[in-house]
Amino acid sequence: MPFRVASFLLASLAGGILMAIVFSGHAAGWGAWCGAALWIALDIWRAQRLMKVLRTDAAGLSSRSGGIWGELADRIRKLLREREQQTRQAQERLQEFLAAIQASPNGVVLLDEQGRIEWCNQTAAGQFGIDAERDMLQHLANLVRDPAFVAYLASWNYSRDVVIDATHARHGPSNHPVRVSVQVHPYAGNRRMLLTRDITSLEQAEAMRRDFVANVSHEIRTPLTVLAGFVETLQNLPLDAEERSRYLALMAQQSHRMETLVNDLLTLSRLEGSAAPTLGHWTRARGLLAQCEDEGRGLSARLAPKLGHRLTFTVTADQEIAGAATELLSAMSNLLSNAIRYTPGGGEITVTWQTLPDGRAEFAVRDSGPGIAAEHIPRLTERFYRVDRSRSRETGGTGLGLAIVKHVAQRHGAEFRIESVVGKGSRFALLFPVARLRPARPVAGSAMSVVSSRGLGASA
Ligand SMILES: Nc1ncnc2c1ncn2[C@@H]1O[C@H](COP(=O)(O)OP(=O)(O)OP(=O)(O)O)[C@@H](O)[C@H]1O
Ligand SMILES: [Mg+2]
Repeated sequence: MPFRVASFLLASLAGGILMAIVFSGHAAGWGAWCGAALWIALDIWRAQRLMKVLRTDAAGLSSRSGGIWGELADRIRKLLREREQQTRQAQERLQEFLAAIQASPNGVVLLDEQGRIEWCNQTAAGQFGIDAERDMLQHLANLVRDPAFVAYLASWNYSRDVVIDATHARHGPSNHPVRVSVQVHPYAGNRRMLLTRDITSLEQAEAMRRDFVANVSHEIRTPLTVLAGFVETLQNLPLDAEERSRYLALMAQQSHRMETLVNDLLTLSRLEGSAAPTLGHWTRARGLLAQCEDEGRGLSARLAPKLGHRLTFTVTADQEIAGAATELLSAMSNLLSNAIRYTPGGGEITVTWQTLPDGRAEFAVRDSGPGIAAEHIPRLTERFYRVDRSRSRETGGTGLGLAIVKHVAQRHGAEFRIESVVGKGSRFALLFPVARLRPARPVAGSAMSVVSSRGLGASA
């Protein structure tokens, strides 16, 4: 500022001196006025030049012109550069933040004060059927027409969530509708943030849990009712010794049925709750098949004493398998027990252990029984699922056998394949991964010290 005053005075003085020289001592005052006016004009011109640059292209500011305007231009340019850098950093941070929300498995929608979409991530766009570009600033209530959702959004009471069908998003091979839980969180005055969560699997698990409890109760109640009936008969009716022993035998059968059911449930929960078997324990496949054969022949003799079944057991690859021997035996004997129980006497049952071209080993049980209709096959491994309930009950089945086989297969990294043709027969196969196989050593495989509760003897 002092420089500015000094330059102004200097300009006036120079004007005065110049006029005094030109007009020999006269008009010095006019000269001073002219110098001052020139200085002011120049100052206004430079100020306007700066204003012009600021109005059009602030980045093009130059500090070449000195003085206060040059310095001002310089400082503005520095300030702008700093601001630009800060804005760029803020933009980058915002992009990172948005990318993180995009990556979230939960949906996020931001609504302005009027309930119009300001931003949404891809998950929410998929669930609500929103086009992230086209539907920007559209009212969400116009796009998601579910009455429960519209009422919830308008209520401004967001203490709980609302569950809707995300009809636009479909997933899975069965094309089940996706169930979405939506919760609104107001922020910054009247703005709202919607958080969505896919609860399809949660609801399915809950439905499965309900079915499971209902099934277990039903399965236990049936033999329990029969038992209670027999107890009442024994208490109230005078029975001779023969009748008594017949009733007692039937009671024993029902209590055995309950015991089998409880054992199977315990087996299933143990399989679900424990870590997968390690690769440390090897069992010879031939030994497992030999044990299956013993039990299978015994069961066939009991169930079809006259005709029997034509049973063949073939091992074409002498291998050892890593895993839990009791679980493997349980899975194999379950498949064989089904084949024997569901194939009428005189039928043919073939059990094989062989290596496949891809190196995996296949344990397969083929029967010439009634076969299973295609619509039942995907559901066979569900707990308590039986194709023909009455027939299965006749043979003492609870519908847990194939659920156990599926678990054992999963725990050993094996694929479980079911093929069946109605009227021709079925083929159940377990395909074990190469990592769990090795050629058998010359010494005989380890003996089966513990036999599963689902051994064939138990289910007969
Ligand atoms: N080899 C087969 N041939 C025809 N149907 C079969 C065969 N194996 C299984 N099934 C059908 O699949 C259903 C489910 O089998 P699963 O072994 O899970 O139960 P289950 O045999 O009824 O009872 P559990 O094995 O618990 O004693 C059976 O009820 C039967 O209807
Ligand atoms: Mg079974």
